[in-house]
Amino acid sequence: MYRRLDPERMPQHVAIIMDGNGRWAGKRSLKRFFGHQQGAEAVQYVVETASRVGLPWLTLYAFSLENNLKRPRTEVNFLMRLLKSYLTNNVQRMNDNNVRIQYVGRTEELPEEVRERMRYAEEATRKNTGTTLTLALNYGARSELVDAFRRLVADVQRKGLCPEQITELDIHRYLYTAHMPDPDLLIRTSGEMRVSNFLLWQIAYTEIFVTERLWPDFRGIHMLEAIEDYQRRERRYGGLSDGTESDDVESLPANQMVV
Ligand code: IPE
Ligand code: IPE
Ligand code: MG
Repeated sequence: MYRRLDPERMPQHVAIIMDGNGRWAGKRSLKRFFGHQQGAEAVQYVVETASRVGLPWLTLYAFSLENNLKRPRTEVNFLMRLLKSYLTNNVQRMNDNNVRIQYVGRTEELPEEVRERMRYAEEATRKNTGTTLTLALNYGARSELVDAFRRLVADVQRKGLCPEQITELDIHRYLYTAHMPDPDLLIRTSGEMRVSNFLLWQIAYTEIFVTERLWPDFRGIHMLEAIEDYQRRERRYGGLSDGTESDDVESLPANQMVV
C-alpha cells in the first residue's frame, strides 16, 4: 500500500465530483469533447488504485441530472457515446481488478442503448468482491430525495403508519444508496467550492477535499494524497475532541458567569 497511509484509518467510502474536463480542454485550445475523453481515461486509473488499496466503495459523479437538462445536445450525446465505450472496453479490466460496477440516478431516463451497456457491465462484474464502483448517472440529490419520499409516503399510507414513526434510518433506506455506508471523504477536482447537488443527505458528516487539479490530470496517487489528508482530520460529528475536559459550570463562581 501507499506507504504514508495508515491501514487502520482507511475510509470505507470515497466519493468524487469529477469536474474540470472542459477547462482541461480549453487550456489546450481543444474542444470540450477531448477533455471528456481524457477524463474517461482518468476514471480507470483511479478505480484501479481504489481496488489496489482495498477501498470497499468508490462513487463517481459522472453525469448530473442538470448536465442532462442544461448542456447542449451534442455534448450530452457525446457523453453518452463515451459512457457506452467506457463500459464496453473496461469490463475486462474491472474483472481483472475484482471491481463490481453499479449505478445511482434516474438511469431509466438514459437512452436504451446506454442502459443496455450498463446492464451488461453490471452483470459481467456482479460477482466481484473488491471495490464497488458506483457511477452516478443522470443523478441529482434533490430528485433522489423526491424519489425516496414518494416511495416512503406510499408505503406509509399503505401500511397505515403515522408520520411520527418515520426515522432517519427509514429515509436512508429509501435512498438509491441504501445499501452503502455514507461517504467518509468527498473529493472535488478543479477547485470549485460547491457540492452541485451530489449526495446531499449522505454527506452530512463527510470530510471534504477540494483540489485545483483538473479531473483529466487526476490519478490514483492524488486520491491517495487526499486519503492521507483525510487521515489527519479529526471527525467530531458535533461532539468534542477526545480528551477535552468539559466545563463544570456549576463550580464557577457567580461573578464569572456570563449568562
Ligand atoms: C466534468 O467536467 C464532467 C461533467 C460534468 C460531465 P465539466 O464538463 O463540468 O468541465 P468544466 O467544469 O466545464 O471544466
Ligand atoms: C458536477 O459538475 C457534476 C459532475 C461532475 C458530473 P458540474 O460542472 O456540472 O457542476 P457546476 O455546474 O460547476 O456546479
Ligand atoms: Mg464543471
